[in-house]
Amino acid sequence: MDIRELYMNEEAPLDLLLLADPSRKLIDEYLNRGKCFVAENNHKLIGVYVLLPTRPATVELVNIAVAESEQGKGIGKQLLLDAIQRSKTKGYQTIEVGTGNSSIGQLALYQKYGFRITGIDPDFFTRHYDGKIFENGIWCRDMIRLSRDHF
Ligand code: COA
Repeated sequence: MDIRELYMNEEAPLDLLLLADPSRKLIDEYLNRGKCFVAENNHKLIGVYVLLPTRPATVELVNIAVAESEQGKGIGKQLLLDAIQRSKTKGYQTIEVGTGNSSIGQLALYQKYGFRITGIDPDFFTRHYDGKIFENGIWCRDMIRLSRDHF
C-alpha cells in the first residue's frame, strides 16, 4: 500500500470522504483549501485524509477514512501516522482533529497515537448537520477536539 498526495487534476475520492463527513458542502470547502492524501492498493483508492492549515504552525486533520471493506486492518493507523509525520516534516508544530462524542473507535485511535483532548464544542453536530446522527447507540451532538504537539 502506498500513501501519496492526490495528483493534480485527480478527483478526490468522494465516496471515502463521505464516510467521515456527511456534508458535501464542508468537504468541497476543505478540499479547496487543504491537501488531500490517498492510500492506494493495486490501483484502487482504499483510504483518504485531508490536512488543512488553520492557525500559524497548526494543521487540522479534517477528514480521515478507510473503505468499509478494508477497515480494522491497520490502514487507519497508517494514515494517521502518515498525517502526523507529514505535518511534522512540513514544519507544523501542532496537529488537531475533531470527532463526535459518539465516535468511540476514533477517540481510541487518536488517543493511542498521542492526541490529547483539548476541548468540547457543545452542540456542534446539532447546529451544523440536519437530522440526528446516532453511532454506537449514542446521539452525536458534541465535537470533541483533540491535539498532538510535535516535540
Ligand atoms: N476501543 C479501543 N480501540 C479501538 C476501538 C475501540 N472501540 N476501535 C478502534 N480501536 C483501535 C484499534 O484497535 C486500532 O488500534 P491499534 O493501532 O493499537 O491496533 C486503532 O483504533 C485503529 O485501527 P485501524 O484498523 O487502523 O483502523 P481503520 O483502518 O478501521 O480506520 C477509521 C479507522 C476511523 C479511519 C475507519 O474506521 C473509518 O474510515 N471510519 C469511517 C470514517 C470516520 O469515522 N472517520 C473519522 C471521522 S472523525
